[in-house]
Amino acid sequence: MGFNRFLFISILLLLHSFMEFTKSQMPAGFISLDCGGDKNHTDNLGLEWTPDDEIKYGTTTKISIENENRRQYQTLRYFPADNRKYCYSLNVKTRTRYLIRATFLYGNFDNNNVYPKFDISLGPTHWSTIVISDANTIESQELIFLASDPTISICLSNSKTGLPFISTLELRQFNGSIYLTPFENQFFLSVSARINFGAENEDPVRYPDDPFDRIWQSDLVKKANYLVDVASGTQKVSTKLPIDVGKDELPPQKVMQTAVVGRNGSLTYRLNLDGFPGFGWAYTYFAEIEDLNQNKTRKFRLILPGAPDISKAIVNIQENAQGKYRLYEPGFYNISLPFVLSFRFGKTSDSTEGPLLNAIEISRYLEIADASFDGGVVASIVSVYKSLEWAQEGGDPCLPVPWSWLECDSDPQPKVISVKLSNKNMTGSIPLDLTKLTGLEELWLDGNALTGQIPDFTGCPNLKIIHLENNRLTGHLPSSLANLPNLSKLYVQNNLLSGSVPPGLLNKNIVLNYTGNKNLHKQSNDGRNIVYIIFGLLVGAAVLILGFIISCLLIRKGKKDHKQEPKHIMHVSSMNTTTTTTSEGARCFTLSEIRIATKDFEKKLGSGGFGTVYYGKLNDGKEIAVKLLGNNNIHQGKKEFANEVSLLSRIHHRNLVKFYGFCQEEGMDILVYEFMHNGTLKEHLYGPLAKEQRIRWIKRLEIAQESAKGIEYLHTGCVPSIIHRDLKTSNILLDHNMKAKVSDFGLSKLAVDGTSHVSSIVRGTLGYLDPEYYISNHLTEKSDIYSFGVILLELVSGKEAISNESFGINCRNIVQWAKFHIENGDIQGIIDPCLGDDYDIQSMWKIAEKALMCVQPHANTRPSMSEVIKEIQDAIAIEKGGEGGSSDEISRTSFHSSLNMGLLDHGGDPYLSFHESVALPSAR
Ligand SMILES: *[C@@H]1O[C@H](CO)[C@@H](O)[C@H](O)[C@H]1NC(C)=O
Ligand SMILES: *[C@@H]1O[C@H](CO)[C@@H](O)[C@H](O)[C@H]1NC(C)=O
Ligand SMILES: *[C@@H]1O[C@H](CO)[C@@H](O)[C@H](O)[C@H]1NC(C)=O
Ligand SMILES: *[C@@H]1O[C@H](CO)[C@@H](O)[C@H](O)[C@H]1NC(C)=O
Ligand SMILES: *[C@@H]1O[C@H](CO)[C@@H](O)[C@H](O)[C@H]1NC(C)=O
Ligand SMILES: *[C@@H]1O[C@H](CO)[C@@H](O)[C@H](O)[C@H]1NC(C)=O
Ligand SMILES: *[C@@H]1O[C@H](CO)[C@@H](O)[C@H](O)[C@H]1NC(C)=O
Repeated sequence: MGFNRFLFISILLLLHSFMEFTKSQMPAGFISLDCGGDKNHTDNLGLEWTPDDEIKYGTTTKISIENENRRQYQTLRYFPADNRKYCYSLNVKTRTRYLIRATFLYGNFDNNNVYPKFDISLGPTHWSTIVISDANTIESQELIFLASDPTISICLSNSKTGLPFISTLELRQFNGSIYLTPFENQFFLSVSARINFGAENEDPVRYPDDPFDRIWQSDLVKKANYLVDVASGTQKVSTKLPIDVGKDELPPQKVMQTAVVGRNGSLTYRLNLDGFPGFGWAYTYFAEIEDLNQNKTRKFRLILPGAPDISKAIVNIQENAQGKYRLYEPGFYNISLPFVLSFRFGKTSDSTEGPLLNAIEISRYLEIADASFDGGVVASIVSVYKSLEWAQEGGDPCLPVPWSWLECDSDPQPKVISVKLSNKNMTGSIPLDLTKLTGLEELWLDGNALTGQIPDFTGCPNLKIIHLENNRLTGHLPSSLANLPNLSKLYVQNNLLSGSVPPGLLNKNIVLNYTGNKNLHKQSNDGRNIVYIIFGLLVGAAVLILGFIISCLLIRKGKKDHKQEPKHIMHVSSMNTTTTTTSEGARCFTLSEIRIATKDFEKKLGSGGFGTVYYGKLNDGKEIAVKLLGNNNIHQGKKEFANEVSLLSRIHHRNLVKFYGFCQEEGMDILVYEFMHNGTLKEHLYGPLAKEQRIRWIKRLEIAQESAKGIEYLHTGCVPSIIHRDLKTSNILLDHNMKAKVSDFGLSKLAVDGTSHVSSIVRGTLGYLDPEYYISNHLTEKSDIYSFGVILLELVSGKEAISNESFGINCRNIVQWAKFHIENGDIQGIIDPCLGDDYDIQSMWKIAEKALMCVQPHANTRPSMSEVIKEIQDAIAIEKGGEGGSSDEISRTSFHSSLNMGLLDHGGDPYLSFHESVALPSAR
């Protein structure tokens, strides 16, 4: 019995603590203010709402709404329609990215049926104009920002019609962030569209499906001019299977599990983008969630009317994401978009399936306004009077509208010109900071309980009117007041001032009232004055000498203290960099992590144009290649480096070496990549390895195809497209399955573009360098084609690009040598003897001829990467026993190659594919 009772109580306790636990499960950095609310409550999503009772202003009221679950919308807070601003202050963590959302449900709260229109601002920045156009529709505004101060203020102001009001204010903290942009110190991201395509119903996806509580609108909600013009043949598809969405703020799985497919080859939509035209951040999210047969492909491109550059990029989700049910998120971090956006995804001619789209997200860059010029000074003035109401208005003193007791000029970075603090219960002495308001013209401090002396106002040369009457000020009336050139009115009556009125003031043509100061006289006895002066001089001299001694002592002490300072500074700056640069793909490693992983740079893998590469192994067992960039390569600041690197990290393709992250400490610039077990193609072609383990011709073709696809992606899949500039066999790496990936892409940009004067230096490696680029300095994708042609020739011949011995007398260059032989019909003369007769001469011809096209002296006569790929695929088809596929048989040849890749994955015998392909119906 007693035991049972004990059990019961402990279960109760457990239950209780469990409930406590679930209650405090709210993610860190979530603040949900129920404006006008009276008590805490949790909504049906599990979000905890708290009343906004810390704000001192405004009136709360209730409206009637149907949905009981949305209690936060039953109440609101409204403010007077005057020319003041009304602000909420929220605490945030600096250097952290947040989403802030404000919502407004009018509900005819004032029984006036006047739809309100007013402004909302974040700090000094005008965020948006809220225009209510329906009493029962929730207006919502979202902004993504990087916090730079420990508090943010959201203010309502500038009411044009009706009363300004607010229903909820929601703050959501991000983790790392996909929202890092190179511009985030100058621009907020104002969210215009975040759409979940193929949605199950009209409900948005948000918390808890999205741990950051972003609202993914359903594409089924179609409003006037929003998500219209849908192409015929558009179909919803969905899956229950999990989707690998990576980490951080990538879209939640639920959003990625649904999509639309353009069965007729196109997906089209039109939507209005609030806040545009302008520059924006636009990303698309794809995951292949249909099980396509091996003979089906899905390739498509985005087409924006009037933006021909953009339609170049080809999306092949499965290839880009490196698998099915995985996220691929191409996008533009700075693109110019119109207000009415029509977009289309169209399938490419060689694709069997129409395009697929899971989600999009578009935000506008909202320029962050400069804080007002005197912001810091004013902040320090109000900090003294924290408890008084006038000191709690919040937000920027001048922007977007000034505090009720200030006037500011109309500069973009405004200065305070008038301070009106009459009868405000101020105590203590006159804040010295007031004398630092350099633009000040009027100062009203009358009717307070101010004590102490009148400070020196020479720092405010524009002062015209000074009201200090009716206080308890003591001391003299400073003669410096006479030096204010514009002074016209000075009121100091009814204080406790003493001494004499400075003659300078009396002689000035100003309004001066100093009555009611018992000990303040117009003129005093001259003789006494002289005594005072001499006495004053003596005292002054004594003070000077004493001051000198003290300051000497202080300086010496200061010098001692100084020694410890540098350490402190370094600590701070390194902390800053780690926090600023964490982004989704570009993980920021610490130097000590790198040192441990590489055992202090023990094993050198190689060295190249950009630096030395070391082997490493992370704690989790992941093997890495650590590239220590040479000093003379990176000419950029930390931030530029980090931005560049983080953009680099968004380039994903199965034939590009994976970029894991970077480290920038102690003057070292380090990039971390996946480790490629089988080293470089160069070693396999003509190193000591080559003799032992020759690579067969078919394998060489596959390597060519794989690296070509990687390069094609750099050229056509990235916007702006990336030119590698340094393609060579030592930049083609082989993984444990001997699959090829291109490395070192994007680095030339990193090293060169930061400072314009070096960008004129020709980069690249002798033997691979496009002669036209060398002469004209005009870089295009065709320069990479040239280099790739050289690589093809190396694959055919097994000879290095430049050699003193291999090519006979008077020839050091593989291009010249191969050209001579091929043009004379002597292909045997250049074929690598290691290959024996394990090749089909036709496929050899195809590659040799294409290679010569690639190394044409003039860029415009060279083929594109996709043409080269076709040729390689044809050559592979020939080797696999097909009867000489021609290049228009794309589906067939790509079938061969994809089948073959699949087999290689399982380490299968390539000959197997021959039998299987025979078993399948021919494309003819
Ligand atoms: C309401 O919630 C806030 C924040 O979670 C908490 O600080 C406060 O104590 C709660 N108030 C009541 C009355 O429970
Ligand atoms: C935020 O990041 C931390 C550390 O990387 C991770 O443990 C946590 O799960 C992340 N939170 C979310 C909601 O992704
Ligand atoms: C689109 O496909 C549907 C069937 O899926 C067909 O009925 C319709 O005619 C097609 N429309 C166009 C414009 O091709
Ligand atoms: C985006 O690009 C335009 C033009 O290329 C440029 O003027 C602008 O400063 C860039 N950045 C942002 C945040 O708009
Ligand atoms: C694709 O493969 C399926 C079976 O896997 C077959 O029924 C179909 O005919 C093939 N289509 C083409 C175009 O080869
Ligand atoms: C000043 O203090 C008095 C008494 O404490 C109070 O009644 C009055 O409202 C205060 N005035 C202002 C402007 O704060
Ligand atoms: C000076 O101030 C006193 C007290 O406020 C007032 O009675 C008097 O009229 C003022 N004198 C002038 C010249 O304004």
